[in-house]
Amino acid sequence: MQYSDLEDNRFEQDFGRKGNGTMIEKVMDSVYNIGVNDRDCTMFEGQYHLENGMAYNSYLILDEKTAVVDSVDAAVTEEWMSRLKEGLKDRSLDYIVIQHMEPDHSGSLQVLLDTYPDAKILCTAAALNMMKQFLPTASDLAQRVTAVKEKDTLELGSHTLTFLMAPMVHWPEVMVSYDSSEKILFSADAFGKFGTRDADEDWTCEARRYYFNIVGKYGAQVQALLKKTGELDVKTICPLHGPVLDRDVDRYIEKYRIWSSYEPEDRGVLIVCASAHGNTLAAAKELKQLLEQAGVEKVVLSDLTKEDIHEAVEDAFRYDRLVLAAISYDAGLFPAMEEFLRKLQIKGYQKRRVGIVENGSWAPSAGRVMKAMLEELKNIEIVEPMVTIRSSLNADSRTKLAELAGAMAK
Ligand code: FEO
Repeated sequence: MQYSDLEDNRFEQDFGRKGNGTMIEKVMDSVYNIGVNDRDCTMFEGQYHLENGMAYNSYLILDEKTAVVDSVDAAVTEEWMSRLKEGLKDRSLDYIVIQHMEPDHSGSLQVLLDTYPDAKILCTAAALNMMKQFLPTASDLAQRVTAVKEKDTLELGSHTLTFLMAPMVHWPEVMVSYDSSEKILFSADAFGKFGTRDADEDWTCEARRYYFNIVGKYGAQVQALLKKTGELDVKTICPLHGPVLDRDVDRYIEKYRIWSSYEPEDRGVLIVCASAHGNTLAAAKELKQLLEQAGVEKVVLSDLTKEDIHEAVEDAFRYDRLVLAAISYDAGLFPAMEEFLRKLQIKGYQKRRVGIVENGSWAPSAGRVMKAMLEELKNIEIVEPMVTIRSSLNADSRTKLAELAGAMAK
């Protein structure tokens, strides 16, 4: 087979074998991405909608010794194993490095272990425990697994991998690996994104949606990892999802620094609306106009009844201000808004200014519930006035809406 080593031609067409991913991608001399683009995947982890499929990356290092770093989702085992065999040619596999045991990376592990019974496994002690749980029929793990600790190394020849513990980025057993000879950071889930490796889309948008919805709860742990990797000379980042990042690496690291700190990335207002019959949505649209007229840099309106809630979560973290507009429901809050706020709570939303617009035709209750949920968060300023709409906007509520727009624009 031909390895592509032309930088502008890294994303080649499929081999024509079963499966639908891209071919083996040369990352660096002797380092290859043998991962698979799953173009048929439209839902990740049973909840995240995918426009452009998902990439499950896996890395093969060919040195005096051979090593594979992580496996792939069970949906693409056959194609991945085919690539691994083509990459190895007639060589054996000496080492299997397991950085993360979540099944999107360990789903093909049992097949790998069975195919290469002499390969030794390196992972954290916590990963070994999970391996026993996920692979209950694997009887030889005690003989094959070496549990590694912080800064343990694996010598492959000219390549040496140094293991760095990265608990909760995004599970407790996670570690990352640094190849000092090529200055590659194998970063596990960190720096990953939704979408196949060759998806024609901006890294930042889908990496941000991935980060805040999947890893976002663990900002402190991500910061701890960034502190460790900040001491390394990293020229290339090899994540387990999305493209290999081999240019402007500092730009991606800076994004992760901002995101994990919970600081806003951009100035602007996100209006999140949950409306059953359109009156609250009409108010949200008027508020958008008022904010734009008041000179707010960017105003984004998200309709939770029609749009991706995870995109709204992403934008809530992106901008420095948020307005919640929702109807009352069963003496409480409309379910879509309650789910949105619950997600913000879980992901550690903080350090923002938030306005509230409620609607209720006989006993408005949405505002009370939204306020109570916001008060459970850290460093949230609730911007006055809270606007109460009775069924539809009238002169009084329009006045309040204009006051809220003025306060939010400050
Ligand atoms: Fe891509 Fe946490 O798994």
